Amino acid sequence: MKNQYDPVFVEKLFDDMCATYSNMNYITSFGFSERWRKQCVAELNIKKGKVVADLMTGMGECWKYILCQGDQNSKLIGLDFSTEMIRRANQEKKKFQEADIQILHENVFENSIENNSVDYVISGFGLKTFNDEQLGKLADEIKRILRPGGYYSLIDVSVPGNAVLRFFYMFYLKNVIPILGRLFLGNPDTYRMLGIYTENFGNSRGVQHIFEQRNFEVEYVNYFFGCGSGIKGRKKQPESR
Ligand SMILES: C[S@@+](CC[C@H](N)C(=O)[O-])C[C@H]1O[C@@H](n2cnc3c(N)ncnc32)[C@H](O)[C@@H]1O
Repeated sequence: MKNQYDPVFVEKLFDDMCATYSNMNYITSFGFSERWRKQCVAELNIKKGKVVADLMTGMGECWKYILCQGDQNSKLIGLDFSTEMIRRANQEKKKFQEADIQILHENVFENSIENNSVDYVISGFGLKTFNDEQLGKLADEIKRILRPGGYYSLIDVSVPGNAVLRFFYMFYLKNVIPILGRLFLGNPDTYRMLGIYTENFGNSRGVQHIFEQRNFEVEYVNYFFGCGSGIKGRKKQPESR
C-alpha cells in the first residue's frame, strides 16, 4: 500500500469520499461532529472585521459557525487541496452571498497566504492525516500566516483515554464504519482508513508538544471524554524591549 501520509494518497482519499463525507463524518463522531466544530470555532471568540483562515476546510463545514461570529468586513479564507472538496466548497460559498470568502485550492504546506496576515486559524478534523513531521510543518505554516497575538483552534477525532470507551469506540471505528462505508459507498477500504488514521493519531497531545516547541501559547482541549481532542492558543507577541 502507498504511504498513507503521502499527500497524493490523502487527496485521492478525500476526492473519493467527498460525496458521502458529511454523513460519514457525522456517524464516525457519533453525531458530535457539528457540535465539535461549533465548539472549536467558539474557542476563538472571533471579533468583527478580522481575517480567518479555515485550513483543510473540506467543503466549508465550519463556515457557518465562523461567519455567524464575523461581519461584512471580515474575510474568510478556506483552503483545501482536494479538487472534489473544493468544488463543493464553491457551491457552499453561494449560500453566503454577503460574506467575503476566498477559496484556495492549495496544499497547506505550499500555501499562498501572506506572512502575518491572518487573525484566526481554525481547522476541523484536518490533523489526523498528517504524520509528526507534517504536523511540524503545519505548525510552522500557522506561525507564519498568523499575526503576532493571533489565535488558533484545531480539533480532530481521537482515541479516548478511558479503556472501556476506547474499546467500544475503536471497535466502532475499525469494524462498524467500514461496513457503513460499504453500504454508503460500496468501498469499505476508504472508510477503514479513518480508523487507521485515528488510531495512529491517538489524541492531540503530540500536536500540543509540537506547538509548544514552536513557542506558541497552547492549551489542550478535550471533547466528549476524549473522543475528540484539540489545541487552542495564540502566537506570542514579540518580546517588547
Ligand atoms: C476530514 S476533512 C475535514 C473537512 C472539514 N474541515 C470538516 O470540518 O469536516 C480533512 C480535509 O483536509 C484536506 N487536506 C488533507 N491534507 C491536506 C493538505 N496537505 N493540504 C490541504 N488540504 C488537505 C482534505 O482534502 C480534506 O478535505
